[in-house]
Amino acid sequence: MWYTISMKPNTQSLCTAAREATNYAYVPYSGFHVGAALLCDDDTIFIGCNVENASYSVTCCAERVAIYKAVSAGKRDFVAIAIAARKGEQWLAFTPCGVCRQTLAEFCGADTHIYVCRADGVDEYTLGELLPSGFGV
Ligand code: THU
Repeated sequence: MWYTISMKPNTQSLCTAAREATNYAYVPYSGFHVGAALLCDDDTIFIGCNVENASYSVTCCAERVAIYKAVSAGKRDFVAIAIAARKGEQWLAFTPCGVCRQTLAEFCGADTHIYVCRADGVDEYTLGELLPSGFGV
């Protein structure tokens, strides 16, 4: 499933989608609900949530779920990703883990926007800022 929204996607609408995606998080072990909203160059948005596992390392982060959903739907050109996280009702800010940064780098340029949605605002980064000198072949 992907979202199309009637207005041009912007930082706010992407954060809204990321926050909504936290409701789908499967987090019986951490209780840390993460949502991601990935904006494609054709304005479609793919959401993802973290999906945990009793064998902890099998867990997949919200960002990668969103990326894999998009790629498996034929999309590979991404403009931005927004992420949001909460414990209970408390919104918490975090930047993507290293594995997710590397996964983004497979498809995204250094200028790709990463929006960290906080309770009262948004911190904006680029992938190049968060993954300088990333590995590539
Ligand atoms: N998590 C994400 O979904 N994205 C990240 O970038 C970092 C961590 C999830 C994985 C796990 O379900 C929970 O947060 C606690 O680590």
